[in-house]
Amino acid sequence: MSQPVLSLQDVTIYQDNNAVLTNISLEVNHGEFIYIIGKTGTGKSSFMKTLYGDLPLKQGKGTFVDYDLAKLRERDIPYLRRKIGIVFQDFKLLPDRNVFDNLLFVLKATGWSEKREMEVKINEVLDKVGMKTAVHKMPHQVSGGEQQRIAVARALLNDPEVIIADEPTGNLDPQTSVEVMQLLREINQNGKTIIMATHDYALLMKFPSKTLKCDGGTLFEVVQRTV
Ligand SMILES: Nc1ncnc2c1ncn2[C@@H]1O[C@H](COP(=O)(O)OP(=O)(O)OP(=O)(O)O)[C@@H](O)[C@H]1O
Ligand SMILES: [Mg+2]
Repeated sequence: MSQPVLSLQDVTIYQDNNAVLTNISLEVNHGEFIYIIGKTGTGKSSFMKTLYGDLPLKQGKGTFVDYDLAKLRERDIPYLRRKIGIVFQDFKLLPDRNVFDNLLFVLKATGWSEKREMEVKINEVLDKVGMKTAVHKMPHQVSGGEQQRIAVARALLNDPEVIIADEPTGNLDPQTSVEVMQLLREINQNGKTIIMATHDYALLMKFPSKTLKCDGGTLFEVVQRTV
């Protein structure tokens, strides 16, 4: 695939009527691993929300996983989201059901219905993140790092082209952060594009990759040594 997975031209990102980031023009190619850094409140999450259709693209041109973001309709959003997997800082597992049912819930909500196929898929993604043995556990019975692995498995259910991760290691200790990061790198090496916001400079130094910074109301690429 030669087309970029993300392409933005003169984009302004808004929260309500406030411009959070202006003049963004960038391209992300398939298979890249991109960090988004910047101080708190500079617009990292807003940028990512615009990509997954949580904030409308009101100014500028943008395509993401073959969707024209400026023309995105409410009814397109579920289909856009099937092409991406989203991982959050706080895991967001449903606390009232076990790991299997957490993943089953997502499959059913995204159009799967064949019981056997769903079982196979759930086992496959849990195996990928090394959490197959937790399939019958409740979220509170597994550690934070394990919950994040399960959240990554959930993000993989629909075999997305891209993983968007908004500070996925923000609630984890340094060692567990490295383990989750290794998992994301492995997923990236298997061909998926990853866009990850982080505050964790130690992680960035340990796993260097292309880095975009939110600063001064815009988003631009930085060379790693000057971050
Ligand atoms: N739901 C919202 N409604 C209105 N303004 C918002 C909303 N969410 C964020 N903002 C504002 O948009 C700006 C960017 O916030 P955003 O959450 O994108 O920053 P961030 O870089 O992700 O910060 P953090 O590192 O704390 O997660 C901030 O000024 C914030 O106050
Ligand atoms: Mg944020």
